Amino acid sequence: MTDPSDLVSPDRAPSAGQSLWGGRFSAKPADLMQAINVSIDVDRRLWAQDLQGSRAHAAMLAATQIISRQDEQAIQQGLDRIEEEIRSGAFPFRTEYEDIHMNVEARLRELIGAAAGRLHTARSRNDQVATDFRLWVREACDRTVGQIQALQRALLAKAEAHADALMPGFTHLQPAQPVTFGHHLMAYVEMFGRDAGRFADARRRMNENPLGSAALAGSPFPIDRHMTAERLGFERPTANSLDSVSARDFALEALSAASICAGHLSRLAEEIVIWVTPQFGFVKLSDAFTTGSSIMPQKRNPDAAELVRAKTGKVMGALVGLSTVMKGLPLAYSKDMQEDKAGVFDAFDSLELALLAMAGMVADLEPVRERMAAAAGAGFSTATDLADWLVRELNLPFRDAHHVTGAAVKRAEALGVGLEALPLAELQSLHPGVTEDVYKVLSPEASCASRTSYGGTAPVGVRAQIARWKEALS
Ligand code: ARG
Repeated sequence: MTDPSDLVSPDRAPSAGQSLWGGRFSAKPADLMQAINVSIDVDRRLWAQDLQGSRAHAAMLAATQIISRQDEQAIQQGLDRIEEEIRSGAFPFRTEYEDIHMNVEARLRELIGAAAGRLHTARSRNDQVATDFRLWVREACDRTVGQIQALQRALLAKAEAHADALMPGFTHLQPAQPVTFGHHLMAYVEMFGRDAGRFADARRRMNENPLGSAALAGSPFPIDRHMTAERLGFERPTANSLDSVSARDFALEALSAASICAGHLSRLAEEIVIWVTPQFGFVKLSDAFTTGSSIMPQKRNPDAAELVRAKTGKVMGALVGLSTVMKGLPLAYSKDMQEDKAGVFDAFDSLELALLAMAGMVADLEPVRERMAAAAGAGFSTATDLADWLVRELNLPFRDAHHVTGAAVKRAEALGVGLEALPLAELQSLHPGVTEDVYKVLSPEASCASRTSYGGTAPVGVRAQIARWKEALS
């Protein structure tokens, strides 16, 4: 099999310092052209994936006898050297070589000579970057699942320690019905469980190998794309070469999962910000996760929670950014797509930090149980329990019970007492059938304990949720 680079005489092959695509060009690019074109400062982060892809490609080229075993060996050894250089910081990342792909290839040529020129047979930077980026995003998804699970474990541990700690449950941020702190935390375990599932789904869908699609149309060489797919841990090769080099929905899907997850983190972060205010005083964060003020000595600010809340903007911004880059692009590759990476890298860096900081905060936070319990009973939070009692014991239609209870709340408010302290005579004046028995349901403890429906806040149910998740995460 003739390699096209055989047709290039050695003196016409590009030399160091000269662009790898310079054959038909007689002048160097303008400085501004270079400034807008270079991506090495961003895509150098793909170096490991680039080497991984090149190793698989070179091995396949030798196995299919497109290049010789000797050339393959020289290439593999050169790539090993490059890896050492990158790891030790000795690798020369050069802007004149634009991106990571050409930096690696140019260095390879300096290290091993002519054989380096055979590595790019049956390959283009278009399928190369699509492959590198998929590998990176796939790893990022796996890493994120691990970080989500670590956060879930921190939430589980806290929930278990406070499965029966009373707190007000809110709607509209108004006291609604008592719940337990464990129940509240387990709500987030559910959310983060779905988030992890979204990353796993995205991974499954993206796990196809674009390498070998070449520039856009495939290759005339007898390449084996199944072989490179297997070596790179992909399920199969992508089925359409145009789609392979044009698709970035794998990154969009990962960013969507990241955005939803960051949204969940920001909700929990916001709750922590609220809970640690002196007005609420529901939880305390230690010095480890708070900062002071340079002017107001009394302050203890939940900066980490606020920053987790804010990182959401970067993650969601990256999703909007890449969606906008991709919209309206004709097939196949356009240079617009080079702008796909910076936002993804930043989004995953932000999400990682947010997940780790949140796991740290959750482990750190201590609920102030007495304060939360006191608040759990405030705001007539057991009014629904009174209405339910009237339905159950006196067979009132719920609407009527709701009305009687509303009147009871009004009376209690006028007297400045909670429902549990409203004298029996007052209640009987609203409905003669009310008995002493009603007070059993008017405490927040009783209210919580009674909610034994599946998924409800009764501590026995909360413990069952915790047990299920412990099993799932073990
Ligand atoms: N640096 C480019 C990117 O990230 C690699 C692909 C360039 N392909 C091309 N035909 N110019 O998208």
